[in-house]
Amino acid sequence: METNAPKRRDNKKSLRVKVISLGNAEVGKSCIIKRYCEKRFVPKYLATIGIDYGVTKVQVRDREIKVNIFDMAGHPFFYEVRNEFYKDSQGVLLVYDVGLRESFDALDSWLGEMKQEMGSQANMDSIVFIVCANKVDLTKRRVVDEGEGRLWAESRGFHYFETSAQSGEGINEMFQAFFSSITDMCENGGKRPATEVSVGFTKEQADTIRRIRNSKDSWDMLGVKPGATREEVNKAYRKLAVLLHPDKCVAPGSEDAFKAVVNARTSLLKNIK
Ligand code: GTP
Ligand code: MG
Repeated sequence: METNAPKRRDNKKSLRVKVISLGNAEVGKSCIIKRYCEKRFVPKYLATIGIDYGVTKVQVRDREIKVNIFDMAGHPFFYEVRNEFYKDSQGVLLVYDVGLRESFDALDSWLGEMKQEMGSQANMDSIVFIVCANKVDLTKRRVVDEGEGRLWAESRGFHYFETSAQSGEGINEMFQAFFSSITDMCENGGKRPATEVSVGFTKEQADTIRRIRNSKDSWDMLGVKPGATREEVNKAYRKLAVLLHPDKCVAPGSEDAFKAVVNARTSLLKNIK
């Protein structure tokens, strides 16, 4: 099976890896990289045109890692340029802006775009993903909270960090964890270590909690059509209750989601004859 195993240079202790940045335009991908590599922040927005490329060297334990960074443009216009660069990556920085819900919701389609270019899930499994909830310095405009972001990331076996390219918060810690995980993966034969994905809850549970949080009314919350019968409501309720019961589900937010489902069912049943 094909893996994204990095090229080793002559010296056995040194590794060369490729990382890419992904996420909507203007979420702060270039600024995060600049903050780490150049220790500075540029407040003015300069859209990345296609791809920016840079190299940095880092030390992880006894290894010297040469990191090739491909900073992608988030604008849909550059799809044709981006799709050339997904292959052979060992690490992906997935970035969203905590003040823009659509940038968080877009993470799934970024994964979709990448998967399409990678050809198979197996290739996606040999990549370290790190999710950056960026712009946490702008506290007043925050709309995606930590629980929601962490749940999305950890349910997929991805790391989660809160970052601010502006203040520098979380940036070094995030990159250290990123490079250290990539090194672990390389030492593990190009496979993401299994421990990272054992978070104690399933992706289905995490996705359901997220869907419930974002639902627009009680029908939507239970996943039934408006005007559904008592039986349909009860059936949908039972399915969700089994999935999210606090005795069975340890995912963050499961208790609130369970309560919301109970309340939704009660209020719907009140109005159905
Ligand atoms: P594309 O290259 O178009 O895909 O955008 P990008 O994701 O690379 O965004 P970029 O890094 O260029 O940043 C976009 C804007 O957000 C700029 O005006 C930055 O100054 C600002 N910005 C980036 N990170 C932060 C942050 O952590 N906090 C604040 N307050 N602003 C930020
Ligand atoms: Mg950019």
